[in-house]
Amino acid sequence: MPVDKDSKSSADLSISHELVTLIRGFFATPVITAVGRLGFFEFILKQPVFSSSDFPQAANQSLLKNIFQYLERLDLLKSLQEGQYECTPLGKQIFQRLSSFLAPHSYGDYMVRLYDQLIQAPPLHQPKVDRLENILGSGRTHERYFPTAISYIRRKLKPQWIVDIGCGDGKFLGFVLQDIPEIKSIGIDLSEVSVQTTQKNLKQRFPGRTIHAFDCNGADVSTWSQKVKSFVNEESLTISMWFLLHEISERDPSRVIRFLTEVHRLFPRTPLAVCELVRQSAELLAQNRQTLVMPEYLLFHDISGQGVLSWTEYQTILKQIPYDLVMQRTFDEIGSELETPEPATFVWVLVPRPS
Ligand SMILES: C[S@@+](CC[C@H](N)C(=O)[O-])C[C@H]1O[C@@H](n2cnc3c(N)ncnc32)[C@H](O)[C@@H]1O
Repeated sequence: MPVDKDSKSSADLSISHELVTLIRGFFATPVITAVGRLGFFEFILKQPVFSSSDFPQAANQSLLKNIFQYLERLDLLKSLQEGQYECTPLGKQIFQRLSSFLAPHSYGDYMVRLYDQLIQAPPLHQPKVDRLENILGSGRTHERYFPTAISYIRRKLKPQWIVDIGCGDGKFLGFVLQDIPEIKSIGIDLSEVSVQTTQKNLKQRFPGRTIHAFDCNGADVSTWSQKVKSFVNEESLTISMWFLLHEISERDPSRVIRFLTEVHRLFPRTPLAVCELVRQSAELLAQNRQTLVMPEYLLFHDISGQGVLSWTEYQTILKQIPYDLVMQRTFDEIGSELETPEPATFVWVLVPRPS
């Protein structure tokens, strides 16, 4: 049988493309994250022509030069003369999305230790998430999910307090304080770095506003509820949870049901704003692998013990909690001829049913 030359070469090309994609991320993500953390992107936005000596904070100048050459080979930088560079149009587009690299890269320690983890019997030395990188990346990446929830809170719920469980760097609280005059805020996070960053960021930006933050495990509702009640007294509040449920689910929807039922018992008149990631089916993700980074998101959530649940599991949760869904917004839905579309992320506003 004659070989169809054209289709053979396009098959070879597509295998090469897959291979390059698989390998490139391993190198490009740490490179972009590292220069991003140097302040590279803020600098080049103001100063379009630059050289490595514009970054004296990089003590290892020869490494920085190697990095610039690598970025040139990826068509992200263009070399001019005498060691000077400018960004290409592609580079500008990519560098503006630094935050997309930060959250995945914050799990770098898990990836570097993968082989050791694989061949050792538990208990293992737990790799660490780079918290600062994580909160910087997640805060920015999540900005697009905030407006619908904030608009609903401002127009319909009108609380005197907003309490954000898993407050990160306080990004969400910052948007709420900016959009809703007079509202008072409380940030709660497991990580002390997050609590300190939230407090510092918000107090600087909103002097004179009521801003509290403290560290506590969000799953320990009885502890944080007491502290929250001591601040708010009888005033009204809304509780928000951005990507917290998967932190406490352990992949078991009944843990989420118990958690939300406990929140309802202690705050029976308080609405909730919830945002979550969805475990989309492997088939859907495989079909859409070239445009979605969800396979990587699910991997680092899984190996760091975070239980992202499926859309079906969230529908089950909804039926079994003492709340009514009053607002839903879904993001990045993917579907196929065979499967109904599933979102990658959703925002819910839930109002409590009378007990
Ligand atoms: C995705 S970030 C939240 C983003 C944040 N609300 C914002 O405005 O950008 C998740 C945060 O939840 C925190 N976290 C994780 N598990 C937690 C838990 N069990 N209790 C409280 N906070 C937790 C993490 O430290 C992290 O800062």
